Amino acid sequence: MDFKAPSSPVLTVVVPTFNERENILPLIERIATALAGIAWQMIVVDDDSPDGTAGLVKSIAESDPRISCIHRMGQRGLAGAVVDGIMASATPLVAVVDADGQHDESLLPKMLTALRNDTADLVVGSRYLGDQDLERGLSAFRKAGSGFANWLAQQVIKAKLSDPVSGFFAIRRELVEAVLPRLSRNGFKILFDIISSQKQPLRIIEIPYRFRERVTGESKLDERIIIEYIGLIIAKATGDLVSPRALMFGIVGASGLVVHLTVLRLLLGGHVTFAVAQTFAAVTAMTTNFLINNAVTYRDRRLRGMKLLRGYLRFCALCGVGLLGNIFVADLVYSPTHNWWLAGAAGAGFGAIWNYVSTSFAVW
Ligand code: GDD
Ligand code: MN
Repeated sequence: MDFKAPSSPVLTVVVPTFNERENILPLIERIATALAGIAWQMIVVDDDSPDGTAGLVKSIAESDPRISCIHRMGQRGLAGAVVDGIMASATPLVAVVDADGQHDESLLPKMLTALRNDTADLVVGSRYLGDQDLERGLSAFRKAGSGFANWLAQQVIKAKLSDPVSGFFAIRRELVEAVLPRLSRNGFKILFDIISSQKQPLRIIEIPYRFRERVTGESKLDERIIIEYIGLIIAKATGDLVSPRALMFGIVGASGLVVHLTVLRLLLGGHVTFAVAQTFAAVTAMTTNFLINNAVTYRDRRLRGMKLLRGYLRFCALCGVGLLGNIFVADLVYSPTHNWWLAGAAGAGFGAIWNYVSTSFAVW
């Protein structure tokens, strides 16, 4: 039995898009030129771009069977889009290329060759390798941030990759499928996530290219995505023990201490007793913690209206229980050891874990 079509594609090019209407047709043309003689297909993964990118891709697909579009509704996110595109592909090899023209698609054949003759499992287009002046597509701020992010990422993946957060790479599909359940759908750093989630180290080749200026439109990378990325690195560094969400919850908790001490200081300047000031400070910190967690840590499950009020009351009740547990544990440690800082830290640690776990179930 042979079900093979005359030219079963060997490569799927996954292209995530958000508002890339102006860029997509030129990209398809350049990729078609670069991949002449290779049986390829392209899956564009669009998050219902307001500029109608998906509609345009589908109209191109009507007359070009190599092209298809996953049109996602009610979702946003580059990493999730790339994952969905790879999951929809069935070719032995997949490549990921941005739609905005910043990646150099003429490298694709070279990347494929390395995979096909089995000199590598993963080939990464690197902005920071080889000739200098490769970074012209980046602002000074992006350059500094990118350098720091690279350094952090290298510590975790224990590989000397010059561009571990590149959005331009080609890989054997089975290697992504093996780690699918572990991949984060948030943020931009899908490559880093694929590498750091592997059980066996990958054989990686980097190929330098010049990161070009965006053709039209604007970048969607913002501060929130950078914070998410740092959370992802810490999650991977701790073997997924500390999730990005738990980390964010911890940071918000620490900010609550600052709020508490500030309010306490202000109130003590007035004519109130310490106990009253301490109570007000605690309630204020709990309230700001709740609101920040609702807006940032749980932004995807944000509570509004009556649910916000109900969530707030539950949050206060659970944190109250956390405080009792905190005192209990601290006392338990203090009695036999008489070590004040160990007891204090144990109590606070217990309280923080309790607050995170219980509110994640009962509030959000
Ligand atoms: N489907 C979908 N959903 N696509 C998205 C989304 C989204 O929420 N956000 C961005 N994209 C698409 C863009 O349309 C573009 O094709 C590609 O993902 C890259 O987005 P840019 O907004 O152009 O990212 P960049 O140029 O700032 O970032 C580049 O460098 C990063 C490392 O610094 C990209 O190559 C990233 O992949 C890379 O991690
Ligand atoms: Mn870009």
